[in-house]
Amino acid sequence: MCGIFAYAGKKDCTDVIIKGLKSLEYRGYDSWGVALKTGTGITLEKNVGKVSQVESLESVNARVGIGHTRWATHGNVSVLNSHPHTDSSKRVYVVHNGIIENIAELKKYIPGDLFYSETDTEIIPKLIAHFMAEMDFPEAVKTVAALLKGNFAFVSIDRDSDYLIAARNGSPIVAAKSGGEFFISSDLQSLIAYTKKAFFINDGEMVIYQLDKQSLVFYDFIEKREVHKTAQSYDLQSGDIEKGNYKHFMLKEIFEQPVRLENTYLNYVDDFDIAFSEMLKPTIVQKINRIVIIACGTSWHAGLVSEYWLESLVNIPVEVEYASEFRYRNPVLTENTLIIAISQSGETADTIAGIKESRKFGIPILSICNVSGSTITRLSDATVFTKAGPEIGVASTKAFTTQLEVLFLLALYLAQQRGKLRHKDIINYLKNLKDIPEKIERVLSKTDQISTIMESHYAVTNALFLGRGVNYPIALEGALKLKEISYIHAEGYPAAEMKHGPIALIDRNMPTFFICIRDQSYEKVLSNIQEVKARDGIVIAVANDNDERITTLADHVIFIPETIVELSPFLTVIPLQMLAYYIADKRGCDIDKPRNLAKSVTVE
Ligand code: F6R
Repeated sequence: MCGIFAYAGKKDCTDVIIKGLKSLEYRGYDSWGVALKTGTGITLEKNVGKVSQVESLESVNARVGIGHTRWATHGNVSVLNSHPHTDSSKRVYVVHNGIIENIAELKKYIPGDLFYSETDTEIIPKLIAHFMAEMDFPEAVKTVAALLKGNFAFVSIDRDSDYLIAARNGSPIVAAKSGGEFFISSDLQSLIAYTKKAFFINDGEMVIYQLDKQSLVFYDFIEKREVHKTAQSYDLQSGDIEKGNYKHFMLKEIFEQPVRLENTYLNYVDDFDIAFSEMLKPTIVQKINRIVIIACGTSWHAGLVSEYWLESLVNIPVEVEYASEFRYRNPVLTENTLIIAISQSGETADTIAGIKESRKFGIPILSICNVSGSTITRLSDATVFTKAGPEIGVASTKAFTTQLEVLFLLALYLAQQRGKLRHKDIINYLKNLKDIPEKIERVLSKTDQISTIMESHYAVTNALFLGRGVNYPIALEGALKLKEISYIHAEGYPAAEMKHGPIALIDRNMPTFFICIRDQSYEKVLSNIQEVKARDGIVIAVANDNDERITTLADHVIFIPETIVELSPFLTVIPLQMLAYYIADKRGCDIDKPRNLAKSVTVE
C-alpha cells in the first residue's frame, strides 16, 4: 500500500526517483508525487494517475529527493491528497506509507494550524516543523516518530539542510548505500539496479543520512539510542523484475510456474530427503498437537488446501483462519499449537498482527514467505521460503502454487517425522510432486482452447466456481482471480453447497466453472453439472484427460493430465488462472494493476 522511494547522491535525482517509483507502482497507483531539493528550495510535482505514464520530468538539478506512489486510505484520489505533504512554511516534506491513528491527539501540539488535505500524513511535516523551533531537523524527526501511533513508514527532507531521514513502525522500508549514493525504498526490488546489499530497518528504527558528510546513522526512536547495522546481501536478478516478451507480468508469472516449482522443490528435496529440520526442530515436530494457519486472500486459499493434506497425511487437527479475524477474536492457543503464517509479500498487515497476537502465547511460529528480509520472516521463529521470485502482477499466481508445494512438503515432512508415512510412501508422493511442473507445461499449452472459451464468455457479469475436497479452495481461488482482474462478480463454493442457495442464480447467462476430476466425489459433481444443465446454465469444466462422460454434459471441457488426487490442485488452478487472465485482457482491464487493489496490503 503506497510505495516510497528516496535518493541522495551525486546524480540528478529526478530520473532516479521516477524510475524507483515505477518499479514500486504495484503497491499503489492512483496518484504520485516527488519533492526535489534544489539549490534554492524544494520543487514539488504531484499528479493523479499512474507514474508509469510519466515519460520523464524536467530536471531541476536536485541531489536529494523523495517520491511516492499512492493507494488512497485517508482522503479521496486528488492532487491535494497525493504525497509529498508539507508544513505551512513549506520547509519540511514527507512521503508516508501506512496509517497514523492518533491525529486528534497530535493536533494539540499545533493548535490553529490549518490542514489543506484530508490525509493523515499532513500531520507529520507539520509536527516536524513545529519541533524545529526548538531543535534541529534530525532531533525533530526523532521526536515526531516517537509520538506517532499506528503502522507507518515515512521519509522526510528539509529545505534548509541536506538530510534524508526515514522512520519505520510496521510498514516496510529498506535503505542502501552504494558509493556516494543513498537510497530508501519500500522494497528491495527497486534497488536491484544499484546494489545487491541493503539495510533492513526494523520497527521503531530510523535512518538518518546526510549527503554532504555522507554520514549514515541508524537510531532506535523508542529506546532513544543509536543502533549498529550492517548491509545484508539479497538474491534478486534484474530479469526477475522485467516483463520480457509477455504482455503482462501476470501472464509471465503464470507461465513461469513450472520452473519456479522446480526451483522450490530442488531447494528443499535432495535424494527424497526433505530438508526442513532447520525450520522445524524435532522437539517441536513431536510435541505439536494442533496447527493454526493464518493468512489472507490467495495465501489463505493455499492454507485451506493444506488443511486437507495435513489432516489426512499427518492426522493432526488444523484450523485455517483469516488473519484479520483471528487477531480480534481472542483465539485460544494452547502450548503445543504450531502457528503457520502464509504470505507472499511478508508485509500483509493483518497477517503481521496475527503473528504478534500469537507471540503472546509463546508458541512456535513458522512462516511461509516469498520475500526474504520481510517483516513476517523477521517476526517468525523460522521461515520456509517459496522460490517464486518477485511476483509483480497484483493477482497472485506463482506465489500460490509454490506455497502449495512448500505446504505439501511440510505435510510429508511432518508425516514422516511422526511415523505416519513410510519412506516408500514419501518417495512415491515426491515422485508425483516432481512430475507436476511437466504436467503444468501441458496445461499451459492449451492457450488456444482457453482463448476460444474466453471469446464466448468474456462479457458475462456473474460466474460461479464449484469444486469439492481439495479442489474446493481452488474454486475459491478461481473466483477470486476472475473477480479481481476482470471485475466480473464471481463466487466460489463447495459443489454440494450449490443446492443450498447459489443454484437460484443459474440461468443461461451465468457460466458455472466446475472442477470435476476423478476423485471420490466425481459422480456427485457430475450430478451437480446435470442440475446446472437442467436449468439452462452454461458449464465449463476442468476434468481429467480422456474423461468421455464429461464431454457429453459440459459446454466446454479443459482437460488436464492425471495426477494423484492430493496433487490435483496444482493442475486444476492453472486453467482458472489462464481463463481469468484472457477474459480480463479481452475486457481491456489493467491486469497487473487492477482498480482499487495493491500488491502488498500494509494497512489493516
Ligand atoms: C489475490 C492476492 C491477494 C493476496 C493477499 C495476501 O490474487 O494476491 O489476495 O493473496 O493480499 O497477500 P500476501 O500473500 O502477500 O500476504
